[in-house]
Amino acid sequence: MTYLFQNYARKDFEIVSGQGVQVQDNFGKNYLDFTSGIGVVNLGHHHKAVEQALQDQARQIWHMPNLYENHLQEQVAQALVGDLGYLGFFCNSGAEANEAAIKLARKATGKSKVVSFINSFHGRTYGAMTATGQAAIHAGFIPLVPDFHYGDYNDFTSLELVDDKTACVMLELIQGEGGVLLADNTWVQALAQRCLETGALLVIDEVQTGMGRTGSLFAFQQFAIEPDIFTLAKGLGNGFPVGAMFGKKELGAAFGPGSHGTTFGGNKLAMAVALAVTETMEAPGFFEEVQETSRLMEKKLDAISSGKIQEIRGLGLMWGIELTSAEVLHETMKALEDQGLLTLRAGERVLRLLPALTITQEEMITGLEMIKGILAD
Ligand SMILES: Cc1ncc(COP(=O)(O)O)c(C=O)c1O
Repeated sequence: MTYLFQNYARKDFEIVSGQGVQVQDNFGKNYLDFTSGIGVVNLGHHHKAVEQALQDQARQIWHMPNLYENHLQEQVAQALVGDLGYLGFFCNSGAEANEAAIKLARKATGKSKVVSFINSFHGRTYGAMTATGQAAIHAGFIPLVPDFHYGDYNDFTSLELVDDKTACVMLELIQGEGGVLLADNTWVQALAQRCLETGALLVIDEVQTGMGRTGSLFAFQQFAIEPDIFTLAKGLGNGFPVGAMFGKKELGAAFGPGSHGTTFGGNKLAMAVALAVTETMEAPGFFEEVQETSRLMEKKLDAISSGKIQEIRGLGLMWGIELTSAEVLHETMKALEDQGLLTLRAGERVLRLLPALTITQEEMITGLEMIKGILAD
């Protein structure tokens, strides 16, 4: 008996408590969480400073509409982008952030064409879903939003799709859901150049790659590009629902009063949490430690060899182990779960690992040893 739509393939156990990367289910079984709730709980479960910020704000005021000043929104935006020259808009999810990005790009340029990439994932609302380059996700929802076009990722011929009718090009720098596929730096540079030449806005979807996941606050900082627009969600709230869209200051006029909005976006509870998350990540030494953990992860992953592995790839603490088949992936994930390690699928046959950025070296080694053991021939 269920009162819910069956739109998720759920496990038959529930995670009921957690601390860092250690979580426990309703049967009392312990697991190491290498999912971070799909790249959300980047600072680990039950994070002290974040929890304190939420509790403090909960005692003051939870919500007022966006009809009033909101100093917390200003503070979060400043903490995130400093003097990089962006304006922020807060919402509640990744899909909403991308929706805002598409709307801003169309309104600011007066053009309608949107170019995105095969295998991408940008969310489930109509605009974000249409931008998502996966037929399986579109199935049953036709007609989609008009004037969306899909290029091949990392393929220079897709640059030809970007022309003077293009409002924006939207992409992930690592296609997360699509299979942990990394964008090639030269291709990204060429795409950025093509955008400059044609007047198309470059939109980087940092919903999964942002908030420290790849070893820097935003992945684009490692690609030497300056997006016109970028989007955040997932890790921004460490589990509290929040999304954000940032656009270059010059685009500000297109989003004047009445142009776009949301009731809950930038809610005080969400902002108090996002501020604590951002300040935690910007504390001196935070990313040095993340990079050290990332080097350990890479080294340990390199040491795993198995006939079941096709490729291992990733950046920061976002890694994918491409296995030989969907069946091997399914068996591997089940065996890991039985042993007490929670992992994710990406694409058809990629074992995706997104541990919290705060994972200890011991926990990392324990988890990766389990994977090594299971994949041993
Ligand atoms: C890159 C990317 N963009 C957008 C989304 C959609 O975010 P949400 O599920 O919060 O709407 C996701 C979710 O997995 C994502 O990975």
